[in-house]
Amino acid sequence: MERRVAVLASGTGSNFAALADAASSGQLGPARIVGLVVDREHAGARDKAASRGIEHVYIGKKTHPTAEAFEAAITAQLERWGTEWVCLAGFLRILRPSFVARWRDRIVNVHPSLLPAFPGLHGARQALEAGVSETGCTVHLVTEGLDAGPIVRQARIPVLPGDTEATLLERLHPVEHRTYVAALRDLLARPFDVVDNEIIWKS
Ligand code: GRF
Repeated sequence: MERRVAVLASGTGSNFAALADAASSGQLGPARIVGLVVDREHAGARDKAASRGIEHVYIGKKTHPTAEAFEAAITAQLERWGTEWVCLAGFLRILRPSFVARWRDRIVNVHPSLLPAFPGLHGARQALEAGVSETGCTVHLVTEGLDAGPIVRQARIPVLPGDTEATLLERLHPVEHRTYVAALRDLLARPFDVVDNEIIWKS
């Protein structure tokens, strides 16, 4: 049965595009990206959805000023699409516990650091400023805690001498794309339990 995945994004949407291309080339198994929600009207992710023939909709502060209305509108849209899985891909709004609970264990995020190190905004910048010799990205299930949910998959890259946030992110982005695709493929294909904030794969 085809798995129905929706994506929430705020920015350029390179991770969205990677997931959409992986779905259409069969890398995610029988899965389809059913739609994109952006909370910034002119997010570049919308162009990437349009060029791929994927429905995209703006839901944000202009249309829904309160958090309650904003999240209710997103849930209603996701339900209209028959969404089973929600992927956050550079989505900058924090989702409240009631939203997270609605999609529990079916909502996924990619973060630009090796969590639990450097949660929150600017994970790559934080790693650089901390002087670590390697960093990476983490795909995790979303829980109430900020970037604190069960880790599905991580990938590492070295921090090179002379790296700036821009050069680090440039090397990290393709790694994020591969890691997000691999993590989502696993989540869609393999049954799992979550025990003590850890994923226990059942097969
Ligand atoms: C990525 O670096 C991701 O780790 C973070 O936001 C960024 C989104 O980039 N959560 P893009 O819009 O997918 O290109």
